[in-house]
Amino acid sequence: MSVPLNAPALHPMLREWPVTARDALPMALWSAAEIAAATGGTASHDFQASGVEMDSRDVKPGDLFVALKGEAMDGHKFVAQAFAKGAVAAVTDRPVDFPHVLVADTTAALHALAHAARDRAGEAVRIAITGSVGKTGVKEAIFACLDRASRGAAHRSVRSYNNHVGVPLSLARMPARAKFGVFEMGMNHAGEIAPLADHVRPHVALITTIAPAHIENLGSLEAIADEKAQIFTGLVPGGIAVIPADADHADRLIAQAKACGAKVVTFGRAKGADVRLLDAIPAAGGGSLITADLGDIRVCYTIAEPGEHWITNSLGVMAAVRAAGGDLAAAGLALAEMGGLKGRGARHTLGVAGGTALLIDESYNANPASMRATLKSLATTPATRRIAVLGSMKELGDFADAFHRQLAEPIAEAGVTHAILVGAEMQALADELGKAATPMLGKGASFTHCETPAEAIAALGQYGLVHGDAVLVKGSNSVGLGKLVSHLIEHARG
Ligand SMILES: Nc1ncnc2c1ncn2[C@@H]1O[C@H](COP(=O)(O)OP(=O)(O)O)[C@@H](O)[C@H]1O
Ligand SMILES: [Mg+2]
Repeated sequence: MSVPLNAPALHPMLREWPVTARDALPMALWSAAEIAAATGGTASHDFQASGVEMDSRDVKPGDLFVALKGEAMDGHKFVAQAFAKGAVAAVTDRPVDFPHVLVADTTAALHALAHAARDRAGEAVRIAITGSVGKTGVKEAIFACLDRASRGAAHRSVRSYNNHVGVPLSLARMPARAKFGVFEMGMNHAGEIAPLADHVRPHVALITTIAPAHIENLGSLEAIADEKAQIFTGLVPGGIAVIPADADHADRLIAQAKACGAKVVTFGRAKGADVRLLDAIPAAGGGSLITADLGDIRVCYTIAEPGEHWITNSLGVMAAVRAAGGDLAAAGLALAEMGGLKGRGARHTLGVAGGTALLIDESYNANPASMRATLKSLATTPATRRIAVLGSMKELGDFADAFHRQLAEPIAEAGVTHAILVGAEMQALADELGKAATPMLGKGASFTHCETPAEAIAALGQYGLVHGDAVLVKGSNSVGLGKLVSHLIEHARG
């Protein structure tokens, strides 16, 4: 059977949907009494909080401010600032001159609130996502799919809130009436994933892919796979592990999921994958039209996100949505509408000399796997000249030189006409591209190497953008290529 997912005519329900019915969820998130009961603390006043925040700069009116003690900072210093921004109450370990819940330890209190949120939202199916790359994008995609299917009753972690603070905070923000909760989990070091998975206790746990990100701390790809697989230790009994069939060490992931008693669902191109790619053809606007085999059914859907990596990511999204009991048809609609995320593939049309140029903003993140994936998608992007502004890939430790050098080939294969390399780690790649004996780049192609985004802006200015150019900007966030992206957008011709 073939189900064309993007054909609303086949799904009469969808026509009636008020898809953005956010008001389906109640405004009040936590009452003073509920917080006191969850944390074992004492409330100074009665109040209702509509959100939870731990960074005073991000407080919105109605928020509960949790004064966490970090290694460098003590949130208690920012209580007054949080109230100035509209907090209704704080969670503190000492009495303050504002409405508060007094607890012994604010970190433990945040955890307790997170667990109370998890336990009271009896209907919510919890989905946890980790992986070396693609976590945030896949998290946003799964959320968009489930939110559409549940008429606005899905909850998710915001941004990349994926660590020991971000995960419990995101959980504590889950409304009682949520039908789905989607949580990102990340790690820099071994041992970090298991406690996060234990906070959430997911029904479905997905690994996007295994690649050398944070290899500096973990040492090997096997160690990375083993650490990611720790997400399965938190699964509820009978929970489902969603595993990338094409990833390095997929067998290790499967073995560990089974050892945790999980039901395994694999996705990818590999023969035998439970959610398997049958066909992908380019769709208008840079996305792809996918046909996938889900075992008992075949589905067709369009994904708006460009790039080969999104083809496999979307299979994982479909696998997770199905595992969570979501609606595949609504998922297809959501994926067709999901545009590029800021810093992770957002596409902008710039006014330039003679017409327009395409800007692909990947400035948020870079590692060897994502660099290759995006260079491939640059290669298939229609353009007269392909310009790649590539910043250093961080946290590669001893592997840094080799991984940077190895980008020469994908750059050449992508038909890059001009590469601007930014950051000290890019020296190895500059050396490789510069080797006179084996010119990597095609005829007429060139590259420059500079240290800072400001120098890259100047280099790009000298090069001069013209009609038909495609510019890819990608690097680790700390290189600061986001500045170059903002500059290009601000200075584009109207
Ligand atoms: N499956 C994938 N394989 C390789 N690269 C990917 C994949 N998914 C996403 N990417 C790339 O990784 C970048 C970072 O994506 P993001 O979702 O922010 O990852 P994370 O949250 O894991 O850091 C994206 O800009 C994209 O270029
Ligand atoms: Mg992320």
